[in-house]
Order: sequence, then structure tokens, then C-alpha cells
Amino acid sequence: MIASSARSLLAASLAAVLFAPSALADSCAAPASVGPDGLDFYKPPSTLPDGEHGSLIWYRPYDDGSAAIAGGTNTLLLYTQVGIHGDTVATSGYMIVPDGDAPAGGWPVVTWAHGTTGIADPCAPTINDPASDDASRVLLTGWVSKGYAVVRTDYEGLGTPGDHPYLIGPSEARAVLDVVRAARQYDPRLGSRVVIAGHSQGGHAALWAASMAAGYTPELDVLATIAFAPANSLENEVSLLGIIGNTTAVSGTVALIVRGISVANASFDATSLLTPDALAHYPDTLTECSVYLDSNLSFGSVAANDILVAGASITDISAQLKDNDPKYLTTIPMPVLVLQGTSDATVFSFTTDAMVKNLLASGIDIVEQVYPGETHQGVLSAGYANATAYLDGAFNTLRNGEWVPSN
Ligand SMILES: *[C@@H]1O[C@H](CO)[C@@H](O)[C@H](O)[C@H]1NC(C)=O
Ligand SMILES: *[C@@H]1O[C@H](CO)[C@@H](O)[C@H](O)[C@H]1NC(C)=O
Ligand SMILES: *[C@@H]1O[C@H](CO)[C@@H](O)[C@H](O)[C@H]1NC(C)=O
Ligand SMILES: *[C@@H]1O[C@H](CO)[C@@H](O)[C@H](O)[C@H]1NC(C)=O
Repeated sequence: MIASSARSLLAASLAAVLFAPSALADSCAAPASVGPDGLDFYKPPSTLPDGEHGSLIWYRPYDDGSAAIAGGTNTLLLYTQVGIHGDTVATSGYMIVPDGDAPAGGWPVVTWAHGTTGIADPCAPTINDPASDDASRVLLTGWVSKGYAVVRTDYEGLGTPGDHPYLIGPSEARAVLDVVRAARQYDPRLGSRVVIAGHSQGGHAALWAASMAAGYTPELDVLATIAFAPANSLENEVSLLGIIGNTTAVSGTVALIVRGISVANASFDATSLLTPDALAHYPDTLTECSVYLDSNLSFGSVAANDILVAGASITDISAQLKDNDPKYLTTIPMPVLVLQGTSDATVFSFTTDAMVKNLLASGIDIVEQVYPGETHQGVLSAGYANATAYLDGAFNTLRNGEWVPSN
């Protein structure tokens, strides 16, 4: 009896060692296991690993996933991060390791922060990567083919239990940094040298991650940050809603922004601020993704000047948006490249220009490349060459790195 249970225990731990590539390399970390199929993957076990944040909970192959990238091995990850309320939460993401042998020093790592997809669980890119994200998949495919390992979080509460704190900087930052830890636990061939990059919501997340990395994940050597059309200066834009007229183009995003504030702050009551038209669709923010929210079945039928009740106090909204505005970050201890199109109707180039000026004045090593006539999505392809040169430079020229990427 005893002998047989000891044998099965031995077999179980042997299996754990064999199936968790990290177990041999990092004997401190609890060995993670293969996670369940389907959406059960996103439901964490009742007991999370009690180690450091960024611990891998479980993983499974992802080469057939909606966000999978060709040219490498895709693996889905569930890992811990410090959540918006300071507790440990489970967040999903994935990693792509290029085919072939890792260079000396390990694979150089890019952690990619994705643009807005929504707040509801089905909007997690690893569950349903929207067609609107094609341009970032093209970019990441290029980077994997050059020999970069790419890791990509879904963000806190997006796919996993709890609501996603949309555009709340510290939550996004911790998701973007902890997925690197978890990926390195899964595959120790990933090196400690990292570049942070992202688009739109993810540009916002990337700047926040850049400012928090030294304190939150000090073992990572973050060489540079690349932000495409980063969300910024929203506190200035909310006061314009009443006067930008009856356009509906930004209404879905505005609804997500309001919902994001309520997720982060339980005392904030959005319902007293929203018009009956907006309130009628507000529950959609928790069940539907951006494509639907932007359509005329939802906020696409609510004009910008009909979202907030006339005379509503926007003091609280503005204060909380300002707290999360990357424009006011004071410490980003590595070079930053910002890429911005002038015809972007989601993140306006004049606000990005002002943000860059502000960060420069704070002593941050930041440069902005502007693309005349490019849109919010267009900047991803228009900026590909500049971003890639900057990425290569960060891993080589800027630090005299020992590794030269293939072309
Ligand atoms: C916006 O206003 C214009 C001009 O007043 C009108 O033609 C248009 O139908 C309005 N659109 C919406 C969505 O209310
Ligand atoms: C949370 O919302 C309440 C009510 O709007 C507000 O008074 C408070 O300042 C907010 N808290 C933070 C941290 O912004
Ligand atoms: C709603 O959008 C659909 C698809 O874009 C369009 O065909 C339809 O005419 C729109 N309906 C209204 C009332 O605007
Ligand atoms: C972007 O690329 C153009 C064309 O090669 C170059 O002139 C420019 O300096 C680059 N910008 C940055 C910020 O590297």
C-alpha cells in the first residue's frame, strides 16, 4: 500500500520534471504542469503558486491558437501577477520561441503589449485575436523571423477571472513584465535582455512597464521601449466629449475607458454620469468586444456628445485618467522610441507630441518618429522599419551586445 503510493508519487514528480522544462533549471520554482484544454485553461486552480509574482501556473501548446505566430513554437501560459487591488491574480498570455538554437546569452526577448480588443473575456487575444490586429501579427512575425523570442500578455482580467482594468497603467505594466518571468521559467533559453513594445493601449502599457521594470522585475535587463501610438492625455479629451459633436467613432472606446476606471475603483459610480442611451449599452462593455461596441448595435449608435449627462462632473474621471497618463511618468531609465501617424483619429498626434515633450523635459531619453498621413493601424506597418532598426540597435549597438540578428 505504502510502497505503491510512494511509487505513484515518484512517478508523478518524475512526470512533472519531464514535462516542465523549467523544473531542472530553477529548482526553487514549483514545477508547472500542462494546463487543461479549451477555456478551462483560463480558470486558475484554487491555490496559486506562492512564490514570486510572474510564477508559471501552467502551459499548453498554442501553435493552432488565434494569435499564433509562424516561424517558432507558440506556447500558451497562465501565470501570476500582482493585480489591481494588490492581490495575486492569474493572467494569461503566450510566447513564441524562434526555430533553431538559442544564441549565446539566450534568446533576446520582446514583450509585446496589444492594442484595445475590449474588456470581456472573449476579447483576450489568445482566445479571439481580432482581424484588426493583423498588422501587429505581421510585425511580430517579422521579429520572430529575425531571431527574437516574443512574449505577449492578454492583460489582467482579460480572459481570466475578474474584470480587466482597461488603461490602468500599473496593472498593464505588471502583466507585461510578469509574462517575461513566466516565459523564462517555462523556457530558460530566454535571456534576461528585454525590449518592451506595444501599440495603442499597448503603447500606454509599454511606457508604464518601462517605468516600473527596475522595481518590479529587477532581474530583467530592459534595454529599450518602443511605443506605437500610445494612449495618452485622456483626461484632456474627456472634457471635449460634449463639444466634438455627434460623431460615434470613439464612443465604444469611451465606454471602455469609463468601465476601466470603475474596475479599478469600486467607489466610482459611472451610472450617475451616463445618459440613458449610454447606460442602455453600458453592460455590453462586460460581454462584447470592440468590434461590436463600435458598431451601431452598441455604442456606435451613441454620439460622443450623448455619453455623459449634461453638466456631469468629470473631475473624478479626469483625476483618475491623469493618474494613469504616461505623459506624467517621471522615471523611464532606458531609451524610448515613439511612433505616431498624423492621421490617427484614435490617438491624436498633437497629444502624443505634447507627451513626448513632457517626458523629454523630465530627462527621459525619448525620440518620436512621425508618419505623415498614417492612421492608428497604419503606423504599425509604416513604422516597421524604424522600430525594427531600433530593436536591433537596442540589442547590439546600444549595449555592444554579443549577438547579431540574422536578416
Ligand atoms: C450628426 O449631425 C449631422 C448634422 O447635424 C446629421 O446630419 C447627422 O445625421 C448626425 N448624426 C448622428 C449620428 O446623430
Ligand atoms: C475613487 O472614486 C471616488 C468616487 O468617485 C473618488 O472620490 C476617489 O478619489 C477615487 N479614488 C481614486 C484612487 O482615484
Ligand atoms: C448599422 O450598420 C450596418 C453595418 O455597418 C449598416 O448596414 C446599417 O445600415 C446600419 N444601421 C443604421 C440604422 O445605421
Ligand atoms: C526612421 O527611418 C528614417 C528613414 O531611414 C530615418 O531617416 C529616421 O532617422 C528614422 N527615425 C528614427 C527615430 O530612427
